[in-house]
Amino acid sequence: MIAIPNLRALQGLAGEKLPPMAFDYYSGGADDEITLRENEAAYGRIRILPHMLVDVSVVERHTTVLGRRVAMPVLAAPTAFHGLAHPDGELATARAAAEAGTIFVLSTLSNTDVEAVVPAYDAAAGPGAPGVWFQLYLYKDRAATRALVERVEAAGCRALVLTVDAPVIGRRERDEKNRFGLPAGLTVRNMVAHGYGTLASPDEGSGLAHYVATMLDTSQSWKDVEWLAGITRLPIVVKGILRASDGRRAKEAGVAALVVSNHGGRQLDGVPATIDALEPIVAEVGAELEVLVDGGVRRGTDVLKALALGARAVLVGRPLLWGLALGGQAGARAVYSVLERELVQAMMLSGVPTIGAIRRDLVKQAWQIPGRSKAELAPP
Ligand SMILES: Cc1cc2nc3c(=O)[nH]c(=O)nc-3n(C[C@H](O)[C@H](O)[C@H](O)COP(=O)(O)O)c2cc1C
Repeated sequence: MIAIPNLRALQGLAGEKLPPMAFDYYSGGADDEITLRENEAAYGRIRILPHMLVDVSVVERHTTVLGRRVAMPVLAAPTAFHGLAHPDGELATARAAAEAGTIFVLSTLSNTDVEAVVPAYDAAAGPGAPGVWFQLYLYKDRAATRALVERVEAAGCRALVLTVDAPVIGRRERDEKNRFGLPAGLTVRNMVAHGYGTLASPDEGSGLAHYVATMLDTSQSWKDVEWLAGITRLPIVVKGILRASDGRRAKEAGVAALVVSNHGGRQLDGVPATIDALEPIVAEVGAELEVLVDGGVRRGTDVLKALALGARAVLVGRPLLWGLALGGQAGARAVYSVLERELVQAMMLSGVPTIGAIRRDLVKQAWQIPGRSKAELAPP
């Protein structure tokens, strides 16, 4: 087992180990990276109002997501190209999620076939493990997209996560400078069979930006959510919602859950921190849909805050990549252990011994605490 002090310290350690092109790809955001910084900063503006003298001798951190038990309300966010961090790539991160008793979301842009990832997860999982979900991008080539969905179902994935915040890729200047591409031996593995497996370093700009611009569908709309629902029997989770009105639209389109996400600050720079966007969406559709959130979750107290504001669970992106880079499967596993330990401690100190006991009145924005002015504490 790898000893990790906390998740923030991991990024620096991974930076010493990863080639600069991979580190920049994993860590970077779009444009000025305002939203990237804001995702973490916004958690720092939320205050916890703990209950005292509550028996916390037994703390239960398990919950359910889409009807399946997860050992804690922390899932693996879909992230591309785990092969840049470790030769075991997505096999390692899937096994780590299985060991932690939670859901692994495999990206369309993985370096490993979905048909290999699901059995690796299942072999590492205990009985009743919640399984693998598949994150889908819509390709212009609908026949290929459909064939991919059929493979994902046949492979045993339990939900489709449709990412809706990337009709084009955000402008990631670090990747442009590095002429980001996949090194020899790595491909967009799931798409090799469909003719879209290559992502090489271009003469200029980012190879990923070029790939997305040529392959993915800029015409995607709500109609396509209905199209997808018509070709799959899997529940659909829409990822990338930031407005209550879009939450409502997703509900009307028949989706099973939402992920409030800004793609880790990698798409439109200047959008709010996801934890600030969460509450109005929960108010609109939280009674009808499970609402998850990702972006900037780095502490057990962040998980507690997200749940208090109405999230069913959170997803974690970059820290798992740092763990993977540092120690493969054990490194990613250690990330879950740190979050689990911190969450349990936060629950004990807050007087909430079960996930169900975490309620809206557990948190306040810092500026709502008497004596602090909004101007003093508002975001810059
Ligand atoms: C390196 C990297 C690759 C990503 N690739 C994808 C992807 O392929 N599909 C997707 O829906 N989201 C992708 N995301 C976004 C994540 O799913 C998630 O929204 C974000 O990482 C959460 O923020 P965090 O990294 O601060 O935890 C990626 C994020 C990173 C950092």
